[in-house]
Amino acid sequence: MSLNYKSYWRKSGLKGKWGNIFLERLSKHNPKNVLEIGVFCGVTARNICDFLYKKNNINFSYIGVDLFGSDKAQKKDEIEPTFLKNQKFSNLLKNIYYNYILKENLNSIESVKKLLKKYSQNIKLIAGDTNKVLKKIDLQKIDFVFLDGGHSYETVTNDLSILYASMKDQKKVILCDDYGKESHISEVEKAINDFTKKKNLKFNLIENRFVEIIT
Ligand SMILES: C[S@@+](CC[C@H](N)C(=O)[O-])C[C@H]1O[C@@H](n2cnc3c(N)ncnc32)[C@H](O)[C@@H]1O
Repeated sequence: MSLNYKSYWRKSGLKGKWGNIFLERLSKHNPKNVLEIGVFCGVTARNICDFLYKKNNINFSYIGVDLFGSDKAQKKDEIEPTFLKNQKFSNLLKNIYYNYILKENLNSIESVKKLLKKYSQNIKLIAGDTNKVLKKIDLQKIDFVFLDGGHSYETVTNDLSILYASMKDQKKVILCDDYGKESHISEVEKAINDFTKKKNLKFNLIENRFVEIIT
């Protein structure tokens, strides 16, 4: 199956070659039920659903969790992309289209729902801070997680602890962004190092960016 991460004329956390590198990880592990923490404008979400649909037809599920504009529990969290605050685009046409014609906030739950409409029977979008909501989500079926939400030490540790508690010893996958030099956030690196050391877990560094933990 050819892997082609599409941008859907929106912003994505996985620009350029990174989208396809991400899809290669999905393809390698071939999951059916995926959780994404940090949905942003839904581009990776849509690519995950496109991939799962091609592989499994309608037998798949996607859960996406994001603040979607709601309040953060932790005061200190990732520095939000300025895009989230004022939705600026360097592309003038995009700026006119989204801000003046559609007047659409691409990081709103409504906008992401629209982008994922084709898969409405298979998806669930949850608005909230993972420090509060993650423990309430049923994670039993999930076999692949893309961890890319809050990037503070506290949030990454919280998220990993909850995920690991329900995925432990099942050879499931937690793919974490922003660990390696290519997109480095020091709090993310420290949280992953401390957590994996505490639980005696090995991990793989992928293309000097992602970390893949097999539970
Ligand atoms: C880097 S972006 C995610 C990019 C997305 N995975 C992609 O590939 O396009 C991080 C997202 O995490 C969300 N976020 C930040 N802190 C969060 C938290 N504590 N709980 C849930 N979502 C959070 C932000 O609203 C933002 O949309």
